[in-house]
Amino acid sequence: MRKLSLLIVLLLTPALAQAWPWSQDMANQISTKPQEGADPANPGMRPFPQRSVPAPGTIMIVKDKDAADKLKNPIALEDKSVATGGRLFEIYCVPCHGKEGKGDGYVGAKFVVTPADLSSQSTRDRSDGFIWGHITYGGVFMPSYANDLSPTERWHVINYVRKVVQHNKPSEAKTSAAN
Ligand code: HEC
Repeated sequence: MRKLSLLIVLLLTPALAQAWPWSQDMANQISTKPQEGADPANPGMRPFPQRSVPAPGTIMIVKDKDAADKLKNPIALEDKSVATGGRLFEIYCVPCHGKEGKGDGYVGAKFVVTPADLSSQSTRDRSDGFIWGHITYGGVFMPSYANDLSPTERWHVINYVRKVVQHNKPSEAKTSAAN
């Protein structure tokens, strides 16, 4: 009787019960383990889907607008960038700022405050970083476009604003938004 009760006590002691093989049965089954490929011919992790992880040169996180003001535009002012920026400008900026950026978009017309004329001398005098910060954080009335435009896309938009809206070199720009 004493032996039997000792056995029961041993069996019920959690530390000992853990040691029994059954505690690992669930882990040691045929299944895909974390970071293991499902395809035996091609073991290892699958590569991350595009744009799911930060890559050098594409992410730029700044504290606030003041910090953004000092940023330098990392994207060269080339036709390809201007064309990409033009397409994005048409989608995200034209509703308020108008096709030529003069602040006469259809949505902008309903605003209490007229959207800024991006071709004006005062906006020309702004740094690229300022405009990047304005798109990222928004203005007093302008909403933030940080969720809609990636950091790099914001620079493309700025290149478009510089070249086409502000007529730096209008003859070289070839985008639909320029017409
Ligand atoms: C919903 C309307 C709206 C949209 C869309 C919008 N803006 Fe604005 N934006 C404004 C208004 C209103 C102002 C002026 C008041 C303020 O700064 O909030 C402004 C001001 C600005 C200024 C500041 C100009 C200066 O010199 O002070 C910049 C730069 C600018 N917008 C760029 C953009 C760009 C680039 C886009 C597209 C990514 C964009 N805006 C989209 C409404 C808009």
